[in-house]
Parts: sequence; structure tokens; C-alpha cells
Amino acid sequence: MPSFKNSAECAGWPQDVGILALEVYFPSEYVDQTELEVFDGVSQGKYTIGLGQTKMGFCSDREDINSLCLTVLSRLMERTGVGYENIGRLEVGTETIIDKSKSVKSVLMQLFEDSGNTDIEGIDTTNACYGGTAALINAINWVESSSWDGRYAVVVAGDIAVYATGAARPTGGAGAVAMLVGPHAPLIMERGVRASHMCHVYDFYKPDLSSEYPTVDGKLSIQCYLSALDACYQTFSRKCNATKEASSSPMSLEQLNALLFHSPFCKLVQKSLARLSFNDFLNTPADQVAAKYPGLEAFREKKLEDTYFDKDVEKAFMGYSLPIFQAKTKPSLLIATEVGNMYTPSVYGGLASYISCNTASSLAGKRIALFSYGSGLASTMFSLKISDDDGPDSPLSQLVSSLSNLKARLDSRKKVSPAVFAETMKLRQETHHKAPYTPVGSVDTLFPGTWYLTKVDDMHRRQYERSPLTPTLPAMEVDGAASNYLIKESTSMSTETLPQQV
Ligand code: CAA
Repeated sequence: MPSFKNSAECAGWPQDVGILALEVYFPSEYVDQTELEVFDGVSQGKYTIGLGQTKMGFCSDREDINSLCLTVLSRLMERTGVGYENIGRLEVGTETIIDKSKSVKSVLMQLFEDSGNTDIEGIDTTNACYGGTAALINAINWVESSSWDGRYAVVVAGDIAVYATGAARPTGGAGAVAMLVGPHAPLIMERGVRASHMCHVYDFYKPDLSSEYPTVDGKLSIQCYLSALDACYQTFSRKCNATKEASSSPMSLEQLNALLFHSPFCKLVQKSLARLSFNDFLNTPADQVAAKYPGLEAFREKKLEDTYFDKDVEKAFMGYSLPIFQAKTKPSLLIATEVGNMYTPSVYGGLASYISCNTASSLAGKRIALFSYGSGLASTMFSLKISDDDGPDSPLSQLVSSLSNLKARLDSRKKVSPAVFAETMKLRQETHHKAPYTPVGSVDTLFPGTWYLTKVDDMHRRQYERSPLTPTLPAMEVDGAASNYLIKESTSMSTETLPQQV
């Protein structure tokens, strides 16, 4: 536990501020996208190859945004052993709004009651899928500021992504991520290179407050995503180049060991990586193009803003960047393809996925770029430098160990039929915001330690209980140090279930 008073860091900025620990929660039930193609009567391969999705997690009426965040925060605190009294800031990013006034953060304060700690800054942040990143930036900024009191910050990002029947429905999902933020982190937020792009568009938004479903202009949303990606990468590259020695190589995909993206559907992520290679291509000095991009010279006259849906450019650079995608991005798509779009946690699910299929020694010293996108729109590209210390008890090794069973956890979910999924969506639709209401979904299918909704009373007050913990998810067997992770079992990850490549 860092102590402000005793720390040499009193004299200066805390060092290596970033993510110390990361917990992911996804629902225990999913629908298979191949079966959904048949059920929806669309052509075979549309969801699985066209969108790159394998499975989609979803929640019954037993789970809402409060319960998802209660679950993931409880798990983070139990796994790390950080006492609730040691948290000085708690930020929530979500776009799953069930109350126009009361924050999810305030609901999470129930977990702090026994500790007596009410001195915790931070509330909720909302802008589509970007809220988690805004929350993370707030938390990092707090630790690096004169307001920091030496305690940890926690960021919780969670959402239930559901769409009306139609083309967007297979791009749903649900889940939550909790991140412990502080100094001496294994995943260090790099300073001075964060690049944002924000502007006003109506690509995806939720004007109907009585419905869980968004209003979506699908094609525009893709154009907005890609244009935001271009803008962020250009600014990120410029800032990185400004911090470099004049003699070192300018920013390009070669300078980054991994590239992770917000994933509304996996195919768009592969297209995004291709898009960045097209940016690199356009940034390459003319006399180097033929050597670096043989056969692609004809695209030299193309402009970024004219090519969002240019199939020739897309195909050429998808082909060119395929090995880069395989090495630097595809490992991050495990949760994205198996759970679907989690909205605010999506890019952090990508981070967890990437870590889960690596070892501490293979990660040590690497540099990861992340692109976060929220419709409307708000977007940021930032980079994480991974600590060099990969010793057995290092924070990096503990982080890797804590995520090593991710694939096994995904595999332990229960598959339900598309008909049951559709019924569940209908039930959520009909009972959303109903009060009083008693949920009818089974609690037996929930993962151990899952918080669930038991009742909404006639004043819309929500009550929750937690499913029992089992020996596979022990609680509180900790010594109060942030270095004590509990789930140690290791599972090798297969990439067979990841999306098809072109
Ligand atoms: N086999 C293989 N591929 C197939 C196929 C088949 N049988 N049938 C169709 N396809 C391919 C299509 O060719 C297309 O691929 P390309 O784009 O590479 O050409 C792909 O499947 C999608 O098909 P459509 O173009 O027909 O698109 P659609 O009508 O199914 O809609 C969508 C797709 C617009 C993404 C829709 O699902 C949607 O609106 N989703 C929600 C919005 C969204 O996710 N937007 C992404 C950016 S916004 C964002 O990132 C924020 C956020 O999280 C929401």
C-alpha cells in the first residue's frame, strides 16, 4: 500500500502510475452465433465470418448494471486483498442508465460499509462506450495530482449491450471490468502521448430513456469509428515522435508490440488494424514506399477521408497487415468474439484477453497501444508500457496469473438456444423500468459470487443478493497486500475460436 506521508514520492510525481490489477466479469450464459444465424434466417456466415463473432453473452432479468458492477468490484477486492479502506477514488464508466440521478458508484458504496470508508471521490461517467476510458484517465490523473492522498483508485466499467431485433442484435454482449490503479504498476500509462478526438455526431445514441435499446445509424457509426481512429493515430504518432530522439524511427505499427481496439464486432477490429497500416503507408516518405509496401504504390494518391468504405483499399491493407493482426491484435479478441460488445469494458476486455494468452516474460518491457471509441463521439488512443520486472512475485506475474484462467471461465459458461435468448430479450424489454417488480430468471445458473437483483420496490429501489462462493472462487483468503492473487490455475489458450481472417 503506497503511503503518501512516508513516500519519497511526496517530493515529486508518483512513479509508474497505471493498472495494478484487472478483473473481468461476463454473464454465465451465451448464445451461439452460428445457431443465431439459422434462427434469424440470415445467410450462413453473416455473424460468424462477416462480423467475426462466435458467441454472445447476455443477462436475464436477474442482472442489471448495478449487479454487474457489484460483482466485478467484489471479485477485484477479494482477489487482490486490497482492503476497502485503502481505496480513495472509485470511478464508474457506463452507458447502461437505469437512473437519471443516482450513480452506480453510489450503489457500489454498499461494499465499503463494513470498512467505514466513505471518503471516496469519483462518480459515474457517460458517453457511450468511452465512459470506462474517461474513468481510467480520471483515476490516473488523480493519482498523479496534488489531490492524491496515497490510496488506490478503482475504475469499474460495465454495460449490458442489447439491440432491437435486426442487423445490430448479433453485435450485443454484456460484461464488466474493474481495474486497480496506482503507482508502481505493471501496466504503466505512458505520459504525454495520449491522443483524443471528440466531435458531435448522431451515429449511435439512446434518446428513448424508457428503452434499453439504442438508435443506431450502422454505416455512419463505422465511418465515425474509422475517422476517429485515423485522427487519434495521427495525433498519437505526432506526440510520440515529439518525445523521441531525432535519430530514432518515427511512430509506426513497428514501434508497438500490440494494438488493442474497442470491439463492437471483431471484423471491425481487423479492419481497424488494416486502417492503421494504411495510415503508416500514407505517412511513409515517397522514396521508401516501393521497398516497404511492394505492390501497393497505386494507393498512394488515396486520401483517408475518401476511403472509409473503399473496398480496394480495405482488401489491400487487410492483406498487407494480416501477419501484424495475427501477432499484435488477434490475441486481444478472445472476450470480444466469445462475449460480444461489452461497450465501456470492451477495450479492457481486449487487454485482459491479450494478457491471458501471454506469459510475464513475453510481456515484460512491451508497449501496447489501445484505441477507445464511444459513439456520439469521444475517442482516445493511449499506450501502456509493461513493466520490465517479470520475476515470479512481481506485480506483472501476479497480473498474468490472475487472468490465466480466462479461457477456462469462458468455456464453463452455459449455452442456451436462440429461442431462449430471444425470450429473455423480450422479458427484459417488457420489464425494463417496471416497478414494483420481482425478477423471474434463475439464480442457479449464475457464476458463484455473482450479485443479482432480488426486487425492485414500488419506489424503484433495487435490492441485491449474492450467489454463494464455492471453493473454485475463494473469498477473503488474503493478507491485506495487493500482491495476493487467489486464482492460480493456469490454462493454455487456443486461438481456434477467434474470428476468421480474410
Ligand atoms: N458470409 C460472410 N460474410 C457476410 C455474409 C455471409 N453469409 N453476409 C454478410 N456478410 C458480411 C458483409 O459482406 C459485411 O462485411 P463487410 O462490411 O466486410 O463488407 C458484414 O457481413 C456485415 O454485413 P452488412 O454490411 O450487411 O451489415 P449489417 O446490415 O449486418 O449491419 C452493422 C452491420 C452495421 C455493424 C450492424 O450490426 C450494427 O448496426 N451494429 C451496431 C452498431 C455498431 O456496432 N457499429 C460499430 C461502430 S460504432 C461503435 O463502435 C460503438 C459501439 O460499440 C456500438
